[in-house]
Amino acid sequence: MLEQEINTAVEQFRRLMEEQLARQLRMEQAAPAKNFSKQEKIVIGICAGDGIGPILMCEARRLMEKLLADELASGRIELREIEGLTIERRLACGQAVPDDTLAAIKACDVLLKGPTTTPKGGSMESANVALRRELDLYANVRPVSVPEEGIDWIFYRENTEGEYVLGSRGVELPGKLAMDFKVTTDAGTRRIARAAFEYAKNNGKTNVAIVTKANIMKKTDGAFSAVCHEVADEYPGIAAEDWYIDIMAANLVNKDVRSRFQVFVLPNLYGDIITDEAAQIQGGVGTAGSANIGDRYAMFEAIHGSAPRMIEEGLGEYANPSSLFRAVEMMLRHIALPQKADRLAHAMQICTVEECRVAVTGNRDGATCRDFADYVLEQL
Ligand code: IPM
Ligand code: MG
Repeated sequence: MLEQEINTAVEQFRRLMEEQLARQLRMEQAAPAKNFSKQEKIVIGICAGDGIGPILMCEARRLMEKLLADELASGRIELREIEGLTIERRLACGQAVPDDTLAAIKACDVLLKGPTTTPKGGSMESANVALRRELDLYANVRPVSVPEEGIDWIFYRENTEGEYVLGSRGVELPGKLAMDFKVTTDAGTRRIARAAFEYAKNNGKTNVAIVTKANIMKKTDGAFSAVCHEVADEYPGIAAEDWYIDIMAANLVNKDVRSRFQVFVLPNLYGDIITDEAAQIQGGVGTAGSANIGDRYAMFEAIHGSAPRMIEEGLGEYANPSSLFRAVEMMLRHIALPQKADRLAHAMQICTVEECRVAVTGNRDGATCRDFADYVLEQL
């Protein structure tokens, strides 16, 4: 009696499989990554986002205007405001990223993005997930450091497949069962593994933790781990260790062992979860930056959400811009301006670790976003 429904679901599964295979093929044939140091002009797109986004972005912009004053004056760098990535506009168009906004983003080299709201339920996809897919931003890179504890971690989270790629396209027999699909491709895993091991090699790291749940997710995580080890074989001197995500979640709160970890490479959903945990260890999700990197485009953003509750309670101006500032730092590194990134990192170190004269708490008892930005600008 459910024959019809099962047939429809099987048909859908066939289409998904064909589509994913085509994606795997495109990745195999991808062009090499862009080299920014050789590029004459770099366009930085700016999308403020929703909720606290515009408040934070206003300060991030002031920061960039100071750090990049020469490049902006000479025209080597352009800051380009991009309209339309707001929840109102997205709902009105019925698109996670409206077509004209996506076209404007694709005309830039890199994007600095504020948090965007994802409506609960319904079929509207998250703007982040859509952008990561449309721009093929396969490496979600999230550093976490707590110098006084010797913690210096960097997470390479696979960003385009796993549980996310078909997350809005599962099948269900209402009232009976629901199924979602998780996808791991060979080429998709190889490129994130390569990014993690290249980082390790270029930064004197000796250990990469491959974090999966391959004892349970045997096909997808099994393949992820196997491909990571194939890549690891090309990097003598860098140890590749397998860890399961559950014990890794425990290890990160175990002060006796956590500082020995250096680089992590992991599938999408585990990466999502554990990078929030890691950011919390550093001082909260408001403190960590996030880079979404592909071979052609890259997007830099705060790790936290748009905090609609802060706006409702009139607390928007007390939001912490640190996460977005860290994203700016990562962006500067990515576009081959490491000295400017270092200047910002140094100012942030003074403002958040060494001196901490101005503290943002997210509440009226703390400093405002503007006060904190003034403080960072003063240290630049
Ligand atoms: C993140 C966020 C996103 C994710 C959400 C906003 C879709 O949690 O960047 O970690 O799940 O990847
Ligand atoms: Mg997350």
